[in-house]
Amino acid sequence: MELTIKQTEALDALEDATTREVLYGGGAGGGKSVLGCYWILKCLLKYPESRYLVARSRLTTLRQTTLNTLRYVSRMQGIPTDAFSYNESRGEILLRPTSSVIVLKALQSRPSDPDFDELGSLEITGAFIDECNQISLKAWNVVRSRIRYRLNDYDLIPKILGTCNPSRGYVYNRFYKPWKDGKIDDDKRFISSLVGDNPYISAHYKESLSGLDVRSRDRLLYGRWDYDEDPSSLMSYDKILDIFSPRKTDSADKYITADIARFGDDSTVICLWYGLSCEMIKVIPRCGVDEVVSIIKDMCTVYNVNLSHVICDEDGVGGGVVDTLRCKGFVNNSSPVAVKGKQQNFSNLKSQCYFLWADYVNRSLVHINVDDIRLKERIIEEMQEVRAADITVDKKLSVVSKREIKERLGRSPDVADALMMRMYFEIKDMGKKQNLAIFF
Ligand SMILES: Nc1ncnc2c1ncn2[C@@H]1O[C@H](COP(=O)(O)OP(=O)(O)OP(=O)(O)O)[C@@H](O)[C@H]1O
Ligand SMILES: [Mg+2]
Repeated sequence: MELTIKQTEALDALEDATTREVLYGGGAGGGKSVLGCYWILKCLLKYPESRYLVARSRLTTLRQTTLNTLRYVSRMQGIPTDAFSYNESRGEILLRPTSSVIVLKALQSRPSDPDFDELGSLEITGAFIDECNQISLKAWNVVRSRIRYRLNDYDLIPKILGTCNPSRGYVYNRFYKPWKDGKIDDDKRFISSLVGDNPYISAHYKESLSGLDVRSRDRLLYGRWDYDEDPSSLMSYDKILDIFSPRKTDSADKYITADIARFGDDSTVICLWYGLSCEMIKVIPRCGVDEVVSIIKDMCTVYNVNLSHVICDEDGVGGGVVDTLRCKGFVNNSSPVAVKGKQQNFSNLKSQCYFLWADYVNRSLVHINVDDIRLKERIIEEMQEVRAADITVDKKLSVVSKREIKERLGRSPDVADALMMRMYFEIKDMGKKQNLAIFF
């Protein structure tokens, strides 16, 4: 079997002395599964008694797709079928002549094992994850942490290969975007391979990709990664990611903004700001008015924040917090704040603040300094759901309703709401500032 030019490039990265993580693909039919299987088979033959992981989100799809490719590549490489023995209960395939093993795993996260403890005892020499966009960053990192088996014996460094079609999430942030910006880490590689890079594929396949809907065609045939930029999104995906870029802490005025939980499953979110940089986010599931009041009071004392710089949403339970603290109250549905005596064209205060927030995000004026990866992912998800609603009858600008966001996210956008409230103080200051946003 002869590899394509792109597959050869990827194999070189998988065999060099510096690359630890390879992402290959970016379009359908670019020879992703063949490359992965080829690399794994080559390693099994070259390194006797090695153990390589071949994984996918689900075992059934792994069996129906990737393992078929493995059989095909073995055949092409002249490896007889009886050289393999499959132990179903262990989920392992033994290659008899070299006693090397392929370990098969599903990496979909399960509520019963959210931290992938099941992989805790796994020791492997390398890993190939097909369609790795379907697993979480956590799963990717857990697999990476398990690569150590017989590395020293063969003078190898840990290598993980992921293949995927254009997607969002960690594959975009970790590989595609840094590659596009020319800033990818030395130990990571992204190799783009589209159907046009694979001379072995039937012309009919390309033709059938051309017949897909525009969005799928862009993604799968042309390998466009920025496919789901919805025109109604208020913030571009890249700009949302940029809010986490490391910045020096702004020593300007401090603020606290808080979204107080209304119902049983919502969380109370409290943000501490140094100027336009959010330096701390506390997410507190289920807590009463007294507890919230005492947390905010403590934060005011410790971080030296004036009560006139504290705002809590006043709908429902939050009203109690505002009354006790005597801080500012934020009523989502109240009239927008007039700027320099001029009425503003928003359906309510919340929409006014979200439009300004989006403008600040798109102009890289706001930052969020948090390390918690889950919290970052949560913010990214919530921000993507902030969209402009169809223009209302009275032609006022508005964001989609909380109910609609809740339906799409499966939870309330509490963190986004708490962050957005910071804009209240900006709007109040608007008349005094030069830096006016485009909407005003
Ligand atoms: N080096 C090669 N030599 C011969 N055939 C190849 C080679 N690489 C890929 N092919 C053929 O091209 C087709 C697509 O390859 P493969 O399944 O690896 O692509 P893929 O990117 O994983 O596709 P999908 O997006 O459908 O998962 C297959 O029919 C495979 O047999
Ligand atoms: Mg494939």
